[in-house]
Amino acid sequence: MRIDIVTIFPEFFDVLDLSLLGKARQSGLLELGVHNLRDHTHDRHHTVDDTPYGGGAGMVMKPEPWGDALDAILGADPAAAPTDPAAAPTATAPAATETPIAVNAADDGPILIFPSPAGDQFTQAMARELSLEQHLVFGCGRYEGIDQRVVDHYSQRGRVRLVSLGDYVLNGGEVAVMAMIEAIGRLIPGVVGNPASLVEESHEDGLLEYPSYTKPASWRGLAVPPVLRSGNHGAISTWRHEQQIERTERVRPDLLAPSATSERQG
Ligand code: ADE
Repeated sequence: MRIDIVTIFPEFFDVLDLSLLGKARQSGLLELGVHNLRDHTHDRHHTVDDTPYGGGAGMVMKPEPWGDALDAILGADPAAAPTDPAAAPTATAPAATETPIAVNAADDGPILIFPSPAGDQFTQAMARELSLEQHLVFGCGRYEGIDQRVVDHYSQRGRVRLVSLGDYVLNGGEVAVMAMIEAIGRLIPGVVGNPASLVEESHEDGLLEYPSYTKPASWRGLAVPPVLRSGNHGAISTWRHEQQIERTERVRPDLLAPSATSERQG
């Protein structure tokens, strides 16, 4: 999979060199391009925002740098008015991190994702769906958001999604994108060494996961539940399932609501 990120804080994503996703990048399972939106401004101050039409607090991200940055990744707008080749600026070779990737003929093209508290709720099911894609492009907004025409324009050209991490407001999209990339990236086949460990996690079967224990058998007066040391695999499996139900009922009863249950049963 290839992931491109457009942001005014590229350093945010340095941590993607670490851990499982860092290894996935080294082995070629994950290709990452991080692009600085300010590289696509044309004024001395590298301005990316301006005051909102209609008034109001805060600043809005200007459409032009976003258009330039996203076109450098997705390719120029095929519907753009043809320009006089003599007058057209010569295309600059993309920087190493900006090489647009060739997409498979069977692919529907990249998905452009804007993290936004006004988007669809990010879930494990969405992470799984997105992990099957070949190319994801994330646009990290800041301030009061990105000029709506950016979303409208790219929605006319391809697949665009607004995705929310949850019902709270972050200062910008970067943290949301980090969380999404981690959730999606670990589902790419080969990224997590033991695929069985993915199956037993919270949300994979619509329930929260059961509690886990390791050695020692007793710690600070707290014993490991005896069934886990019994060697009886049937009893262990039953106990774990009961724990999942009990925990889900207590912490997230909404997951057990009839609509969630029918989704779980597919
Ligand atoms: N940007 C600001 N808040 C956000 C949220 N809750 N989810 C995704 N992106 C955001």
